[in-house]
Amino acid sequence: MRGKVVLVTGANGGLGTYVTQAFLDAGATVVGTSRKIQQAEFSSPNFSAIAAEISTLESARVLVDQVVARFGKLDVLAHTVGGFAGGSSIAETDDVTFQRMIDLNLNSVFHILRAAVPVMRKTGSGCIVAIGSRAALEPGAGVGTYSASKAAMVSLIKTVALENKDAGITANVILPGTMDTPANRKAMPAADFSKWVQPATVASLIAWLASDAGKDVNGAVIPVYGSDV
Ligand SMILES: NC(=O)c1ccc[n+]([C@@H]2O[C@H](COP(=O)([O-])OP(=O)(O)OC[C@H]3O[C@@H](n4cnc5c(N)ncnc54)[C@H](OP(=O)(O)O)[C@@H]3O)[C@@H](O)[C@H]2O)c1
Repeated sequence: MRGKVVLVTGANGGLGTYVTQAFLDAGATVVGTSRKIQQAEFSSPNFSAIAAEISTLESARVLVDQVVARFGKLDVLAHTVGGFAGGSSIAETDDVTFQRMIDLNLNSVFHILRAAVPVMRKTGSGCIVAIGSRAALEPGAGVGTYSASKAAMVSLIKTVALENKDAGITANVILPGTMDTPANRKAMPAADFSKWVQPATVASLIAWLASDAGKDVNGAVIPVYGSDV
């Protein structure tokens, strides 16, 4: 991936940390973003931190403009920003929770796509990988707003794949099951961690999709459920 410019959103999250490291290990130039990210979080000289809030179109555009101004192009967008809410039935879910799920899981991808796709179309190539969730296809009781927001983002990514195949751009979405992150271990201490998906596995898959080997995969919705299938 030497010479490739990669933007990882949520770069210091439970998954994003692995994704950022995977692209750095592959020799790419990596811009990592989140609201609070700091340069010191990755030691590689090929890493640049840009703190940004991507829940508005304007901030997403400013972010992508900064990447292009600094590195001349954007080859890969790995979008990991997202978040979870659960514990209430649909009938009992309040507006604030619903809006938070839509902002984090759907609006964030909508904004970053509108910022990144025109830049990729200009260069005539690009790879977009977004992180959905198993819940996008398999809603469970009490996680309805999370599932709905992830289902909608899957639809957006598939549409972007169709709309931009003429320009040499691929767009795929990965649906992890529960991942073995520090936050999940803290939230579910009694769970069998061995059944969970390793973030490194998802990170490797993203890096593969962005490599030459993955160039024929487009519009795919890829389940990664670990042993809990
Ligand atoms: N963990 C799981 O078991 C699991 C399972 C299936 C799917 N997923 C999905 O996988 C993805 C990664 O999950 P994760 O566990 O790694 O999440 P995480 O640890 O909570 O990381 C989320 C990342 O997004 C950033 N972020 C949040 N809101 C933002 C905003 N408005 N603008 C910019 N950055 C923002 C956070 O950093 P800042 O706070 O610094 O902004 C952080 O870097 C998510 O889309 C999640 O829904 C997770």
